[in-house]
Amino acid sequence: MIDNKKVLFSGMQATGCLTLGNYLGALQNWVKLSDEYECFYSVVDLHSITVRQDPAEFRQKAKNLLALYIAAGLDPEKNCIYYQSHVSGHAELAWILNCFTYMGELNRMTQFKDKSAKHADNINAGLFTYPVLMAADILLYQTDVVPVGIDQLQHLELTRDIAQRFNSIYGDVFTIPEPFIGKTGAKIMSLQDPLKKMSKSDENPNASIFLTDDRDTIIRKFKRAVTDSEAMIKHREEQPGVSNLIEIYSACTGKSFEEVEKEFDGKGYGDFKLAVGETVADMLTPLQTRHAEILKDKAYLDGIVKKNAEKAQYFSNKTLRKVQKKVGFNEKVR
Ligand code: TRP
Repeated sequence: MIDNKKVLFSGMQATGCLTLGNYLGALQNWVKLSDEYECFYSVVDLHSITVRQDPAEFRQKAKNLLALYIAAGLDPEKNCIYYQSHVSGHAELAWILNCFTYMGELNRMTQFKDKSAKHADNINAGLFTYPVLMAADILLYQTDVVPVGIDQLQHLELTRDIAQRFNSIYGDVFTIPEPFIGKTGAKIMSLQDPLKKMSKSDENPNASIFLTDDRDTIIRKFKRAVTDSEAMIKHREEQPGVSNLIEIYSACTGKSFEEVEKEFDGKGYGDFKLAVGETVADMLTPLQTRHAEILKDKAYLDGIVKKNAEKAQYFSNKTLRKVQKKVGFNEKVR
């Protein structure tokens, strides 16, 4: 608890271009949650170097992502928006937690298996202990809730196991975090293969809407979206493509699936796709404008980055000191 509010932590990696799926599935939910919780939203750059990055490009991408958090509507005066690498406690706690995590547990992580298959030439130890760093992120702030995608649930389960193991040895040190899976937009699917999640790393550029796509590109991609030959706009399992478009439209407008079905009753797929494309473009255009403005204002951005890193450092240090004491490190002479 901070100021009588429960603590929320989440983070995103600045690799690849962010998609509409990231926005509707994650960022939009983050904004909704930011009144109710004391929020820490990190650009998790330490995680990203488990895969090789080009330094100049990586630096820019991380900055873009941080500015996007703000452009999407997260008030940096209320939410702690910061680079993970600016707060040393993440790496320090991760080391300690490494010593409370078993090889067997990490070996079972499906994301590690997937990523080591994908990066067979660089299966580094960081890739293996990635979930422990994630546990450190979360536990460092005595986090109550963690909004995550379904693909991260296994990591969150491990975080809870590590926390409980540590607590059972040393007493109540860590809050045990709960996952938070958003109701709407939790899974925006590919426009080209609606059985696959929309992914920033999809090889087919028509499969994903990127947050940087301009209006014409967005509309063109929706026009090409894969549907079916049922010729009716219904949200049902037999029509995954159309259902995905309904979900996107619903997430952008706040209308229920039934309302969307009614609105387009008797209309053709062409009209419907155009409407979805225009709605998404209308939503993203102001976001893109704000994003560009924030990036241009270096003094503003620098101020936010500094102030929020200090805030994160303050709260994380409280937990870190406690942990260091519990495991038996000698106190620093101050
Ligand atoms: N591993 C997460 C992802 O790839 C990102 C992440 C890092 C994270 N640390 C976190 C998410 C802590 C939630 C909480 O999506």
